[in-house]
This record gives sequence, C-alpha cells and structure tokens, in this order.
Amino acid sequence: MQISNPLKLAFGCDHAGYFLHTFLIDFAKSSSFEVIDCGAFDQSSVDYPDYAKCVSKKVLEGAADFGVLICGTGIGMSIAANKQKGIRAALCVTEYEAMMARQHNDANILCLGARVIGEGLAKQCLLAFLKSEFLGGRHQDRIQKIEIVSK
Ligand code: RB5
Repeated sequence: MQISNPLKLAFGCDHAGYFLHTFLIDFAKSSSFEVIDCGAFDQSSVDYPDYAKCVSKKVLEGAADFGVLICGTGIGMSIAANKQKGIRAALCVTEYEAMMARQHNDANILCLGARVIGEGLAKQCLLAFLKSEFLGGRHQDRIQKIEIVSK
C-alpha cells in the first residue's frame, strides 16, 4: 500500500459522534494531516451507514490512506464499513488495540465510540493507529484468507 506524505485521512460520523469527530479533525489538521470530511456536519439525527460508506469509498479509491469512523459505540460504523470489500475496520477502545489493528490486521479504518471513550484516549488511539505499521508475513496470509472467505 502506497502511503502519502502528508497522510490523508477521511473522517465520518453520525450525530452521536459529531463532537469527537470535530475534535479529531481539528487535531489532525493541526498535526498537518490532510483531511477529507465526509460529515455529518451537525448534530441532526442521521444514519451511520451513509457515512461508513463515504469513508470506505475514499479509502478504497485511494483518496485517503486511512479512515476514521465515529458513532455512539463505534459498533454500527464497524459493521457497516466491514461490508465493503477491501475494508478492514477495527473498533478500538485502547491504544494497544489500535496498534495491533495496524500491525496484525492491516486495518484501514479506525472506528471509535464517542459514548465510550473521551477525547484524550481517542486521540491516543488515533496516533497509535497511524504510527503503527503492518507486519506482513503470516499476518498477510491470514488477511488473504479473509479475502477468500468473503468472495
Ligand atoms: C445512535 O443513537 C447510535 O445508535 C449510533 O451512534 C451507534 O452507536 C450505532 O452503532
């Protein structure tokens, strides 16, 4: 996978994730990452699969290196994003999970639950996700098996 410099990140959320989404976008911009904002753009009630689809598409077509999806729990976003072939969306609540999601699972979308974790931990998860690299090898073989199963 070709990673751009600066890193391009696509963000999406529903109404429950809106404040954490804007917080992380501000953080990403201040850290000189390029940001694609798929919305939502306010707290009006919306359907999380629409935003999961937008972010997944940006990642799959190469407009973004990675995606970040936020809803209340992160569960709906991860279920929806993982329906897209080639997407490996990981719901994380710890830095360790975020690191392992990249190292072992080559996750390309980080999902977060705004009603589960606070801003500080969300930022640490995002940083751990972005600075960790896929280890390949036996992990690549396992990911290949996922691709075969989902055919
Ligand atoms: C919205 O109330 C909530 O269902 C949504 O944000 C998410 O947590 C779904 O998984």
